[in-house]
Amino acid sequence: MNTVILSASNEDIAFAASLINKGEVVGIPTETVYGLAADAMNEEAVKKIFKAKGRPADNPLIVHVSRFEMVYDIALEIPPLAHKLAERFWPGPLTMIMPKSDKIPDVTSGGLDTVGIRYPSHPVAQALINISDKPLAAPSANLSGSPSPTNCARVYEDMRGRIPAIIDGGECDVGVESTVISFEDGGIRILRPGKISVEDFLTVTDKVYVDKGVLAQLDADAVAKSPGMKYKHYSPKANIILIDSEVDAFKNYVSQNKCENTYCLLFDESEAVAGVGFLTYGVTSEEQAHYLFERLREFDEMGAKTVYARCPSKDGVGLAVYNRILRSAGFNLIKL
Ligand code: TXA
Ligand code: MG
Repeated sequence: MNTVILSASNEDIAFAASLINKGEVVGIPTETVYGLAADAMNEEAVKKIFKAKGRPADNPLIVHVSRFEMVYDIALEIPPLAHKLAERFWPGPLTMIMPKSDKIPDVTSGGLDTVGIRYPSHPVAQALINISDKPLAAPSANLSGSPSPTNCARVYEDMRGRIPAIIDGGECDVGVESTVISFEDGGIRILRPGKISVEDFLTVTDKVYVDKGVLAQLDADAVAKSPGMKYKHYSPKANIILIDSEVDAFKNYVSQNKCENTYCLLFDESEAVAGVGFLTYGVTSEEQAHYLFERLREFDEMGAKTVYARCPSKDGVGLAVYNRILRSAGFNLIKL
């Protein structure tokens, strides 16, 4: 299959919408990461997403809408708090899990009786939903297990020959995937952290639980509240080791443990260790979220075998950065 790159022009978005309406899969930009979109209510189309990604069939997809009213067709029941959260955070990087209606096929929800719903703020994603007039199922546009793509070139790298088209909408703003929440006990539980943070939710409800799976590896026999948590994620080929320490201790540790093809992932270049190559991912949590996945892919291109990474702050969107980097490190965290 030939994979064409489309622009974000009206003509190209209309063409992408015609592909969606024919039951095809299209790579699309969102404000978080790129997605692989298809008609959420078309079983055959959704199956093509799973095939293109090599994704396990029990890992459910998020359904994307372009106005709140579309939720009435997708969810069986809408918790009162969902209205409040939508008012405050939609359109934006928040996915809310609700009981699913019969219109959503089991393939889309990975066999669960719930469905994750998100109203993205990216104008191209919104336009495609509006013009195709379909809610779009869309996981991140990477091959299953790889870091999520934050620009069109990375989507092409993974999806070339697997999907008919990708819309190039430039670099994604946020850089990590949406916050995924479920409703519990009159409040919410964060299953996957993202840009909408604990602090943000606390302005709307005082019951905010952070799932154990966000900060630690689930026991082998534990039931994951979000199936995505049980899979190895965001893994580059390099062996990432997360080091939680002050900068001097970090530098000492790296100089004593460096070998061939060792690199560092730093906040900024002042932290460089003599004789060891590095990339930086920024000093603020927002910058770190924006650059993390791209840096992980760059380390692979550089042939990195071991990467010692500075441990990010867990405040705000930092919790999402920490969650993704911890997973990419296979939970290999060293405290000095
Ligand atoms: O920002 C995003 O959310 C991006 C863009 C494209 O919108 N999408 C995305 O989708 O990250 P994906 O499929 O890569 O990640 C969705 C996560 C998975 O971990 C999945 O297990 C979880 O959300 N999830 C989806 N539906 C769920 C449900 N009904 N119950 C529990 N977890 C669910
Ligand atoms: Mg994903």
